[in-house]
Amino acid sequence: MTTRRHFLQLSAAALAAQSPKLSANDKIQIAAIGIGGMGHEDITSALAAPGVALTAVADVYQGRLDRAKELWGKDLFTTRDYREVLGRPGIDAVLIATPDHWHAQIAIDAMKAGKHVYVEKPMVQDIADGKRLIEGEKSTGKICQVGSQRVSSIVYQKAKDLIKQGSIGQFNMIEAWWDRNSAIGAWQYSIPPDATPENIDWDRFLGSAPKRPFEPIRLFRWRNYQDYGTGVAGDLFVHLFSGMHFITGSLGPSRVYATGGLRFWKDGRDVPDVMIGLYDYPATADHPEFTLMLRVNFADGAGGSHVFRFVGPEGVLTVGNGVTIARQPRDTEPGYTIGTFPKAVQDQFLAEYQKQYPPTKPSADSIRPRTEERYLPPPGYNDHRDHHVNFFHAIRTKSAVVEDATFGFRAAGPALLSNLSYTQRKPLHWDPQSMNLKG
Ligand SMILES: NC(=O)c1ccc[n+]([C@@H]2O[C@H](COP(=O)([O-])OP(=O)(O)OC[C@H]3O[C@@H](n4cnc5c(N)ncnc54)[C@H](O)[C@@H]3O)[C@@H](O)[C@H]2O)c1
Repeated sequence: MTTRRHFLQLSAAALAAQSPKLSANDKIQIAAIGIGGMGHEDITSALAAPGVALTAVADVYQGRLDRAKELWGKDLFTTRDYREVLGRPGIDAVLIATPDHWHAQIAIDAMKAGKHVYVEKPMVQDIADGKRLIEGEKSTGKICQVGSQRVSSIVYQKAKDLIKQGSIGQFNMIEAWWDRNSAIGAWQYSIPPDATPENIDWDRFLGSAPKRPFEPIRLFRWRNYQDYGTGVAGDLFVHLFSGMHFITGSLGPSRVYATGGLRFWKDGRDVPDVMIGLYDYPATADHPEFTLMLRVNFADGAGGSHVFRFVGPEGVLTVGNGVTIARQPRDTEPGYTIGTFPKAVQDQFLAEYQKQYPPTKPSADSIRPRTEERYLPPPGYNDHRDHHVNFFHAIRTKSAVVEDATFGFRAAGPALLSNLSYTQRKPLHWDPQSMNLKG
């Protein structure tokens, strides 16, 4: 077993040297760390890419290690201590899908150990860790793909192309909401009946979070607690930031304001279940300034909905399962509001107006269409698989990934700032270029 001390004594270079060189035909050996809901999905998508083999998994709950052997074979190496995975020489890359508070530490440890990293969103739980992770990626030369799969989606690529082609004119605002109305939607995930201290490495789950006695709800519903999660902003806004930054080429907002509260799911959680965020985006070479509005409501009595709208003067582009552009042409005449003027003034105004816009009889030709164009991906299309394919392609060809640590931090930063703005009840200023909090 690799102890913490032993692990720390090994230099980054020595550990990196353990990682074998890959030839184009070699299988990429992967390990997964944190194999709950998303860990399972990451493994499934990774194994759907050609030339990838799963050899080891780590999780602090024994039940998930047992389940991994049921699914991926009894020869799979399993451990409750992720450092044992990092100490295994044959492993080229790790998928990290732990609760948010572990992302930065495990990703940095993994890159120092010579492993390429696919780390789930939000890349970090704490703004201070963003630069640490970017530095870890640079200094080790390892590939780091952050797990916001929308940036690999052909649907998002289509939206990007359509906006660039001017399909809605210059967009002036973007709005998105992600509303739900169910217990599972509000993160009340199942707690297994064998969640005992014997089956769970409680201290390793807590990690750098405040020490507290064993309480399984905190592990299985970790999103509900600031100590381990990042609230609705880190869980959901972050997807909208990464997808929107990919489409628009934006680097991030310069001003962030968020408000909300815990309105309905009062189950002991310490994060809001309703949040609205407003963001000012500065002009870049790609676009003039615009405003973004994001919203999550976990108790939306109409059942909830998920919408992502790019609003421009010539149309509205909506991204969902596919892309839709709705257009309603503006009236060619400006119209008038003269009813409150004296009669003689009205007559004078009308005479002038009708000189410019002679009255015509409405006809079938004058009925203007409201149009809708729809672009749908092929049936069964899966952007998550494409995101993993992009990761493994980058490993084999030493090329750039679509969502490196800098891109990941540019999405996580404003999401985490939303939480800060909510707690401090004030707008915050951010430099999207240098990724620093201002003022
Ligand atoms: N990309 C996406 O669309 C997407 C979707 C869902 C979740 N996620 C992200 O994936 C991550 C995991 O979310 P989830 O829904 O799978 O949560 P989950 O609770 O289902 O799984 C987390 C797993 O990590 C394990 N774990 C906790 N501490 C650990 C440690 N120190 N070492 C190893 N394992 C540890 C837990 O036992 C659990 O099995 C989160 O960061 C979340 O934001 C991304």
